[in-house]
Amino acid sequence: MLRIGMLTSGGDCQALNAAMRGVVKGICSKRDDVEIYGFQEGYKGLIYSNFKMLTSRDFSGILTVGGTILGTSRQPFKLMRVPDENGLDKVEAMKHTYHKLNLDCLVVLGGNGTHKSAHMLSQEGLNVITLPKTIDNDLWGTEMTFGFQSAVDIATDTIDRIHTTATSHSRVFIVEVMGHKVGWVTLHAGVAGGADIVLLPEIPYDIDVVVDAINRRKAAGKKFTIIAVAEGAISKQDAKLSKKDLKKKKEKEKYPSVAYELAEKVQRKTDQEVRITVPGHTQRGGSPCPYDRVLSTRLGAAAAEAILDGEFGCMIGVKKNEMVRVPLSEVAGKLKYVDPKAPIIREAELTGISFGV
Ligand code: F6P
Repeated sequence: MLRIGMLTSGGDCQALNAAMRGVVKGICSKRDDVEIYGFQEGYKGLIYSNFKMLTSRDFSGILTVGGTILGTSRQPFKLMRVPDENGLDKVEAMKHTYHKLNLDCLVVLGGNGTHKSAHMLSQEGLNVITLPKTIDNDLWGTEMTFGFQSAVDIATDTIDRIHTTATSHSRVFIVEVMGHKVGWVTLHAGVAGGADIVLLPEIPYDIDVVVDAINRRKAAGKKFTIIAVAEGAISKQDAKLSKKDLKKKKEKEKYPSVAYELAEKVQRKTDQEVRITVPGHTQRGGSPCPYDRVLSTRLGAAAAEAILDGEFGCMIGVKKNEMVRVPLSEVAGKLKYVDPKAPIIREAELTGISFGV
């Protein structure tokens, strides 16, 4: 008997179900003595032994379905070693659940925080294999995460829609794009949607350069300017502050998010009306795009192969369009940022996009 535990952890994204389906279909095509334990709401399910027994049939018909059939929750890595309100040792509890159920392995689908905990469990002796889930595309060790392209599609669609209304008005439109501390979604949606200004966390912006780009467009007879700003974007001035001082400044300013801060600055320095659009969690919603369906199916099938080979302690990642097994020790705790010197930045600049520098 092959006993597999599975959980999805952290913020959801498109193609989580498709990836799990890939794993289960891949294994069940080779073995018929498989038991699947689906832990509910991420690591919480493993800690509190809250699971559902699933069969391969539960994974049929979910290729195109958004969200996760297992549910998910955020269990911060830094609190994993802190006992819960009843004094329960969470790490010991997770190990206990794993051994009690006599699991052969644990399949974990998640992003950065999730990978730190997965690595810890692997170091604690559990057979862990992970899949790279996040719209942010910021996981180290893989060129691509599933969820990313779907989010880019949605953010691009938002910019496209802004474009048509923008042609009717002389305004500055700011679209705030998700991505946590990195600018992958903003960069790709910004280029795909033909944004005029793209502001990324990796390239701190100068507000005067942003304003200059807006004014130059106006002087050239362009009615509107569209700014795609990453939720983690930061000004050059703020980038110089210590973490503590930045936190204090943000608390004092009380902007709901970066788009509002930028809007106020632009409003103060230009004579143009400014409008804000924050698509927020719509970027993680709905059906996965075809690219993500293919990617997650391939990643899932490659995870199935690793399980059947008995190779654990790794994440299945993508390298040059091949599915590769990357040790969790290489993945955990590292972020994959946009390289400000990457060709795509230069090419985008050549086509007229300003990065505010
Ligand atoms: O990591 C995915 C992500 O959607 C980020 O882009 C965003 O910053 C964050 O999650 C939002 O988290 P939550 O769903 O907890 O509000």
